Amino acid sequence: MTLIWRDSMSVHNEQIDRDHRYMVCYLNTVELALQNPDEMGVLLTAISQLYNYAYEHFMREELIMKKISYPAFNDHRKEHKDLLEQLLKLKVDLESHYTKEEILEKYDEIVKFLRHWLVDHVLLTDMKLKPFLSQYPKDLSI
Ligand SMILES: [Fe+2]
Ligand SMILES: [Fe+2]
Repeated sequence: MTLIWRDSMSVHNEQIDRDHRYMVCYLNTVELALQNPDEMGVLLTAISQLYNYAYEHFMREELIMKKISYPAFNDHRKEHKDLLEQLLKLKVDLESHYTKEEILEKYDEIVKFLRHWLVDHVLLTDMKLKPFLSQYPKDLSI
C-alpha cells in the first residue's frame, strides 16, 4: 500500500504542505523501485530524486523558519542534516553493500525506515511549526 498525505499532516503553510506531498510521491516511487532491484539504475535514480527534493524542501522550510523567527531553528536544521545523511547512507548501502537478493529480503525493513524517515519528521518536528505558522497567512512563502 502506498503512503498517502493527509490533512492531519498539514502545518498551515501551502508551500511546505505541497513540498511534503511531493516527498510522499517520491518516497512511493522509491518503494516501487525497491520491488525490482534488477533495475538498479531506476532504484538509485528514484533515491537521488527523493534526496534532491528533500534537500530543496529543507532549504525552503528553513527559509520560512527564518522568516517567522522560529525559536527552535537550529535543532530543526540539525535534524534536516541528519535526515539527508541517513538517506545518503541508504543509497550507498543499496548501491555498494547489498546484493539484489538482500534488497528484496530487506524490503519491509527499508520501507519501514523510509516511512519513519519522512512521516516522523513531518508529524513530530515539522508539526511544531504549525502554531507559529498559524499566525501567518497560509500562502506565506520564501
Ligand atoms: Fe523539517
Ligand atoms: Fe518538512
